[in-house]
Amino acid sequence: MVENPFLIRSVDALQVLDSRGDPTVEVIVVTAGGGIGRAIAPAGASKGKYEAVELRDNDPKKYCGRSVLKAVENVRHFLGPAIQGLDSRKQREIDRTLREVDGTKNKSKMGANAMIATSLAVAKAAAETAKLPLFLYLGGAKSRTLPIPMLNIINGGAHAGNELAVQEFLIVPHNFDSFSEALRAAVETYKNLKKYLKEKYGAQAINVGDEGGFAPPMKMTAEAIEALIQAIKMAGYEPGEDIAIALDAAASHFYDEEKNVYRIDGRELTPEALRKYWLELIERYPIVSIEDPFHEEAFQDFALLTKELRGRVLVIGDDIVVTNVERLRKALEMEALTGVIVKPNQIGTLSETLDFVDEAKSRGIYTVISHRSGETEDTTIAHLAVAVSSQFIKTGAPARGERTAKYNELLRIEHRLGDDALYMGTLVKLGNVK
Ligand code: PGA
Ligand code: ZN
Repeated sequence: MVENPFLIRSVDALQVLDSRGDPTVEVIVVTAGGGIGRAIAPAGASKGKYEAVELRDNDPKKYCGRSVLKAVENVRHFLGPAIQGLDSRKQREIDRTLREVDGTKNKSKMGANAMIATSLAVAKAAAETAKLPLFLYLGGAKSRTLPIPMLNIINGGAHAGNELAVQEFLIVPHNFDSFSEALRAAVETYKNLKKYLKEKYGAQAINVGDEGGFAPPMKMTAEAIEALIQAIKMAGYEPGEDIAIALDAAASHFYDEEKNVYRIDGRELTPEALRKYWLELIERYPIVSIEDPFHEEAFQDFALLTKELRGRVLVIGDDIVVTNVERLRKALEMEALTGVIVKPNQIGTLSETLDFVDEAKSRGIYTVISHRSGETEDTTIAHLAVAVSSQFIKTGAPARGERTAKYNELLRIEHRLGDDALYMGTLVKLGNVK
């Protein structure tokens, strides 16, 4: 009998580096048919409290406490042997096995970094064995729509050494016929922003933060938004109509729990005052979405904002839902959001990520497939975004290799699809733009 080429023959792991110089887990899966899948776990800086646990060695003598040798050993000694001999196409069985080996609810024993790299490497090995690009293997023949990129071109919060409370100021090039045209407009805007910031604030303002966006010495939220508006105009585009604006507040990181206030723009705002502030900014600027506008437990405040913005501006949950179906269901019960961030390493396996996307989609919730602030050359999320026809992808500024790796992969996917390629910007009508 001929051997099934999809059977997992070997699983190996090693420690490699991410874009911050922190060690992370790379897993290599090889099938009997010779398909090789390689995946690397990313890492967040502004992590949600309810994310699956990233295992670190905390050994001060190694990589300043950041090494992941235990997670690597977990792949080599436990996760790998458990899935060896299984059919790499049976992603659910593989992921269930990984979860059983771990045995905890938050993946703290094996480590979500070990598990997500293994889970994704299996899918990539199966795709290689089937001689299909990952997006087609995962999404099938219907996969032909390129997501709208949300590019974080001014960095604040935990990603930069400035005083901006809001973590990400993003541009959303939606009014274009193709992904490549949209990306070109974004790059032109990025270049013009560099010029604008340098002229107005001096050369120090064009240093970049973790996700490749500029980290100018600003403090006020509106000042950063104004800079984006100017850059869009300088590049020859219409703010709102061609290129809209999005914010990721990552508000857990400027929330003072004891006083129940948010520290932003040199002020202390109550949740209600912050909600009014967001509404004010939305009145003034062509903002199409706001992510994590309140801290990660504030379902009620999310719901109040969603009620006011429904049909106009997306309220997107990241730290509040952490790619976790249970938390998404709670948010949906409370009508707390209209969009979700999808980060595979927040939950730890590919099939749970796909289930989360399905749940969101079936409830009419927009999805944003997302990188982490600590990234690598791994391009899995580009394929995932096309495979699930996500409306958006968030993968940083069009700068720094770990960010451009994803944009370049999307360009390759678009190129491969040729005339069949569709751009999500031509399908999705965004609110709050002219
Ligand atoms: P993180 O930030 O990867 O540092 O968590 C990204 C985000 O908050 O969207
Ligand atoms: Zn976020």
